Amino acid sequence: MASLIWSLIPMTSSHKDTLPAILGGPAVRPMGAPTWPRSDGAITAALEQCARSGTWGKYDGENCQRLRQQLGEYHAADHVALCSSGTVGIELALRGLNIAAGDEVLLAGYDFKGNFLNVLTVGATPVLVDLDPQTGQMNPQRAAHAIGPKTRAIIATHLHGGVVDMSALHQLADEHRLAIIEDACQMPGAKLGLHRAGMQGDVGVISFGGSKLLTAGRGGAVLTNRADVITRLRRYSFRGNDAYPLSELQAAVLLPQLEQLDSRRAERRRRADDLCKQLADVPVLTPIHVVAGSNETDFYKVGFRYHAETCGGLSRDVFAAAMQAEGIALFPGFRGLHLIHARSRFRQADELSEATRADSDWLVLHHPVLLEGSSAIREVVMAVRKIHVHAEHLRTANLSIRATVGPWESKS
Ligand SMILES: Cc1ncc(COP(=O)(O)O)c(C=O)c1O
Repeated sequence: MASLIWSLIPMTSSHKDTLPAILGGPAVRPMGAPTWPRSDGAITAALEQCARSGTWGKYDGENCQRLRQQLGEYHAADHVALCSSGTVGIELALRGLNIAAGDEVLLAGYDFKGNFLNVLTVGATPVLVDLDPQTGQMNPQRAAHAIGPKTRAIIATHLHGGVVDMSALHQLADEHRLAIIEDACQMPGAKLGLHRAGMQGDVGVISFGGSKLLTAGRGGAVLTNRADVITRLRRYSFRGNDAYPLSELQAAVLLPQLEQLDSRRAERRRRADDLCKQLADVPVLTPIHVVAGSNETDFYKVGFRYHAETCGGLSRDVFAAAMQAEGIALFPGFRGLHLIHARSRFRQADELSEATRADSDWLVLHHPVLLEGSSAIREVVMAVRKIHVHAEHLRTANLSIRATVGPWESKS
């Protein structure tokens, strides 16, 4: 994470003990945000086993085979390709679908930047679609409006605990003969109705990046029931050997995590719901995700809309920095893709007003705190209340901030 650089921190106060940590008071969580991944005996054992057996030196062995098989069974996917990252997974999905120069691909105007760049990498044009104000995810009505004669595919990304309306996208895809790539990098294994995340479109992608819910430091997987997609994808990746591999060692540490994923998801959901309930009477943050029907979502980040107008006009970035000083891993969300790329690189059919709002107002809480029990949730709420109470003081304190970047930007 890039460091926060502050100037002019006012230090003198007779009530130092109640001050926000950023103004010199004591932090709500002096130990800071919990680290990730957690220390775990099953992972240590898996690493030791690799060291003893020498399997860690193999190109592709038992661990990768087991991981492919277990991911396939878990997701009810006929084909699983392991790969070197979620970003590469999205590129391979596009290549597997034969998306190329002259084609257009729809994606949300607020999305992981790598998805936009991947569309360009395969020679196609990104078409940006606004968010649904209710769900905070790609708006299917706006997607319908954005479809043109060259549109071939939709990247549907579930973000910050929210879920894209996949049945509406399916209708569109059927009507216009479009493929769907489901980006489940932030929600691996979540039960969305009848299927797990990643299995509701033609191809799904999950990430094993360093900060992700399933982590191997880096890595990813592509899931599909389409034999043609996996054949094309393998043909592209194979250059004498796999050009985008996941190693035996990475597979070894993922296997025990896959076993824990369902119970951890249940715990994260319980804590996220609890957090949102406790925050309901602090008029500063409202959750982005809506709990819908039979969905069992997960939280790589818990997304919130920040309301500066109810927080003494304190800017979103200063609010985030003040929370970080309290030991809470709360960051600004992604940048709006239309705001950081030249207009010549994408098409947009409509205004991207919700994506613009997300760019300026959203905050995301990093997931490890959700596995730290109820006292950690109370600490998050305490920190929000504390900053809310001192908002006016913070706004006028002449704090200047140069940069805040979430952990996914640099080390995913
Ligand atoms: C929605 C989304 N898609 C794709 C990725 C890329 O995954 P990776 O970091 O494994 O390349 C990320 C990473 O944060 C993400 O949040």
